[in-house]
Amino acid sequence: MENILDQAYSADNFRQQGHALIDMMADYLERTTSEKNKEKTIQWQPPTDQLATWQEDAQQPLADPLELFQDAIARSIHLHNPRYMGHQTTPPLPVTVLSSAVSALLNQGQAVYEMGMVGNSLEKIMSEYLARKLGFGSEASGFLTSGGSLGNLTALLAARAAVSNVWNEGHQEGQRWAVLVSEEAHYCIDRAARIMGLGTEGIIKVPVNERYQMRTDQLEQYYQQAISEGKQVLCVVGCACTTSTGSYDNLEAIAAFCQKYNLWFHVDGAHGAPAAFSPKYKHLVKGIEQADSVVVDYHKMMMTPSLSTAVIFKRSGDSYKTFAQRAQYLWAEQPGEEEWYNGGKRSVECTKNMSILNVYTILRTYGETIFRENIDRLYGLATTFAAQVRTNPAFELAYEPECNIVCLRYLTECDTNSFNQQIRQLLLEEGDFFIVQTILKGQTYLRVSLMNPLTTERELQELLGNIEQKAAYLLAHSH
Ligand SMILES: Cc1ncc(COP(=O)(O)O)c(C=O)c1O
Repeated sequence: MENILDQAYSADNFRQQGHALIDMMADYLERTTSEKNKEKTIQWQPPTDQLATWQEDAQQPLADPLELFQDAIARSIHLHNPRYMGHQTTPPLPVTVLSSAVSALLNQGQAVYEMGMVGNSLEKIMSEYLARKLGFGSEASGFLTSGGSLGNLTALLAARAAVSNVWNEGHQEGQRWAVLVSEEAHYCIDRAARIMGLGTEGIIKVPVNERYQMRTDQLEQYYQQAISEGKQVLCVVGCACTTSTGSYDNLEAIAAFCQKYNLWFHVDGAHGAPAAFSPKYKHLVKGIEQADSVVVDYHKMMMTPSLSTAVIFKRSGDSYKTFAQRAQYLWAEQPGEEEWYNGGKRSVECTKNMSILNVYTILRTYGETIFRENIDRLYGLATTFAAQVRTNPAFELAYEPECNIVCLRYLTECDTNSFNQQIRQLLLEEGDFFIVQTILKGQTYLRVSLMNPLTTERELQELLGNIEQKAAYLLAHSH
């Protein structure tokens, strides 16, 4: 009998399974994206039930991995369904499913040139291309990292490396670092600062205005307060945009403030920096080109699978200072050498996925028009949806959306917070639509993130109708 390893590596088996899998995935796409699609966006199960199903599955013999893939598909949330309007993860473009398969097959590690000849070159080309789109000059460049959280940590580490040698000397007695950031920033900024040992007192949260943008008029006051407490401010982080509400901070005002005090200016553009691709919306990121570093998630608004994040530096040289470390067995040239082609010198990761192939494939296949169209369509859809909400007296719109994130709530004389939480729970359990919820100024809102360009006005009207039905049901069953 054939050895199991030889059988597992057989090209013939792969060809057969691969063809069948592509057919299965294409059928899935056809079903989920079809106008007639009535399938659920999510087949909700509580975690213990889901776990039990898989525990049972693990005990069964498996005749064909395709059965397993079929199950995994059926039991997952369906991002390509036009009624998916939840978290900020994109339904990946089908061509990137193919490029991901190529990356998986090649499994290039990226840390050293030989293990990432293609990936390191593409990272340089794409980072410089993205930097130009954001308005940076020819000195700007960057690389890829695995996710916005890691990207923001990398940028904050670079900000620290610019003003201290803590990397080699460790924390000095009495040294107290701080970062200034909007209170609406994604939690990963807070987490990055804590990882760096800044502690709670090192994360200074600047309040937001009624549009959930940083009150830049209060930056001076918070900065002076930090100085008077003996802290050294490492950087100011601008949001482009915030996670809960999609609000863009006034980046020009933050840039001017940073210039005044010679502070590092970092922009978390994980979600919203790609607005730069759209002539209609690029005004939202005005000032981003003055940042010292910017993070952009390709897997949010640029239609690639997760995880794929660009970390862009205004001065490419800054990116080499963060992890100045010797690794004799990896790099012949040691610290100080600016070798773009040895990826591991600048990233937290040693081995890293060649996910740059995904965004490069999109660009080469469809041109940059596709990025503009995605922004224009999704941001425009949010404006349409906001108008639907505003004209329906049953709802309250939390603010005028700046991008594709809209927060609303159903108005009721009952406890509005718990009423909207119950609506969201009913929607989740029913599974037709998928939306999430958030807390704004202590109040619960339903949060709609329009990530799927196949969503149309019709689904948005249906969503409002569905919420009203849920509300009627709750009212009828309340005592
Ligand atoms: C503004 C912002 N920054 C950072 C992140 C974290 O990115 P990732 O999930 O890629 O780690 C998110 C995630 O939603 C985000 O919205």
